[in-house]
Amino acid sequence: MRYTPQHAASSDATGEIEIREGLDGLTPGRIAVLYRRAPLRRPVSDPAALWTMFEHASLVLTAWKSSRLVGIARVLSDSVLYSYLVDLAVEPDVQGVGIGRLLIQSVLDRCRGTDLLVRGHLGRMFKHEGLQPVTDAWVVPARK
Ligand SMILES: CC(C)(COP(=O)(O)OP(=O)(O)OC[C@H]1O[C@@H](n2cnc3c(N)ncnc32)[C@H](O)[C@@H]1OP(=O)(O)O)[C@@H](O)C(=O)NCCC(=O)NCCS
Repeated sequence: MRYTPQHAASSDATGEIEIREGLDGLTPGRIAVLYRRAPLRRPVSDPAALWTMFEHASLVLTAWKSSRLVGIARVLSDSVLYSYLVDLAVEPDVQGVGIGRLLIQSVLDRCRGTDLLVRGHLGRMFKHEGLQPVTDAWVVPARK
């Protein structure tokens, strides 16, 4: 699937972006480089843990500019009621030109029929994609 970002101020800012589904082309090292640079706090120093997070995801979408990995979206979903966008990260030199938006739109397409949950500033950043705040969400922080 190929998209030309509608949001890009000019096509030479991002060029043509390809969105791919699955783990093809990903390695723990490549993911860690992107997450460190974005930055996104994840266990980037633990390749096994990082890879487990991806193997256990319901949906992984990657954004490519030619052969360069420029964005990742990772989703946990039960495919019926709920999906949770757990990671979204874009390379800093191409942030702000619409790649995150392309990834969110692709996630929404694939998770159609389920509520898509996100956390933090993503909700505000992408509210024009239909994200609404909720007041009744609670969490038990991870326990060892
Ligand atoms: C969050 C993130 C994935 C967004 O990706 P992106 O490709 O930069 O996002 P987009 O270019 O699609 O922009 C989305 C919206 O935010 C705005 N935006 C993006 N970067 C911005 C910036 N630096 N300053 C102000 N606004 C910005 C855009 O204008 C756009 O709004 P619009 O569609 O109304 O114009 C990216 O900034 C990132 O990787 N951040 C670090 C990791 C992170 O915090 N992830 C979220 C938690 S999982």
